[in-house]
Amino acid sequence: MTLDSHNFSMKAIGFVESCYLDRFGTPRQPGLVKSSWGKIHLQKEWHPQQSLEGLSGFSHLWVIFVFHQNTNSRFHAKVHPPRLGGANMGVFATRSPHRPNSIGLSLVKIESIESDGVVVSGIDLVNGTPVLDIKPYLPEIEAIPEAKAGWSEQLVKTKITVLWSHEQLEFLAKWQSESGRIHLRQLIEETLILDPRPLIYRGYEGKASPYRETHAVRIFDGDVHFSFIDNERIQIIDISRHTLE
Ligand SMILES: C[S@@+](CC[C@H](N)C(=O)[O-])C[C@H]1O[C@@H](n2cnc3c(N)ncnc32)[C@H](O)[C@@H]1O
Repeated sequence: MTLDSHNFSMKAIGFVESCYLDRFGTPRQPGLVKSSWGKIHLQKEWHPQQSLEGLSGFSHLWVIFVFHQNTNSRFHAKVHPPRLGGANMGVFATRSPHRPNSIGLSLVKIESIESDGVVVSGIDLVNGTPVLDIKPYLPEIEAIPEAKAGWSEQLVKTKITVLWSHEQLEFLAKWQSESGRIHLRQLIEETLILDPRPLIYRGYEGKASPYRETHAVRIFDGDVHFSFIDNERIQIIDISRHTLE
């Protein structure tokens, strides 16, 4: 790292392999989709076998990373958190990816330690995310049960159900058996009930919309197409797999 008092240059220690291939559909915070999967691959030069020694006794990990897929580099002091329905908020009162330094911080669950990295769950990171550092979570110091959550405390949560047709469930079963991945149905449902749609698409459920009504999230090698029937129900329309095309 080169360093003067205001300018820094940093180097990634590795990258994230993630079940989420696009920003769209990636959860807005860690821990929201418990069955999401990722692996933090550490580069050889950091000697993972030695540098990860001692981490296996910890259950959770802080991941400090770069929002490398950010497209807008202009600074905005106020941002529109998706959950605030159009209202804006000072960027430093949010967890927006769009900030002066595109640095993110996520608390994830450690699943296993491998010779070249750490397998984690509960992630909100896109595949390929560069990692600047990882640090163990210290519950006795960092857990603050009486902590206040500002504007985010007032948000109302809607209970959403995901509906599958027989045909899609059959496709899912085949995908599951071929991939041997973690529970795909759970992963898809936990992801979709967070409602990944940007604000402009919402509010037309069950009515004619001037916008696209079907959306797709990319999870592992599959595109899951879905649509909102009403505020509380999502229909899976179709699943297509890249490897089969
Ligand atoms: C709101 S941010 C929160 C990230 C982190 N927990 C934090 O607070 O810094 C999470 C969103 O960032 C986006 N994201 C995740 N990885 C990214 C990346 N590598 N580049 C750009 N955007 C990313 C996804 O759309 C995800 O929903």
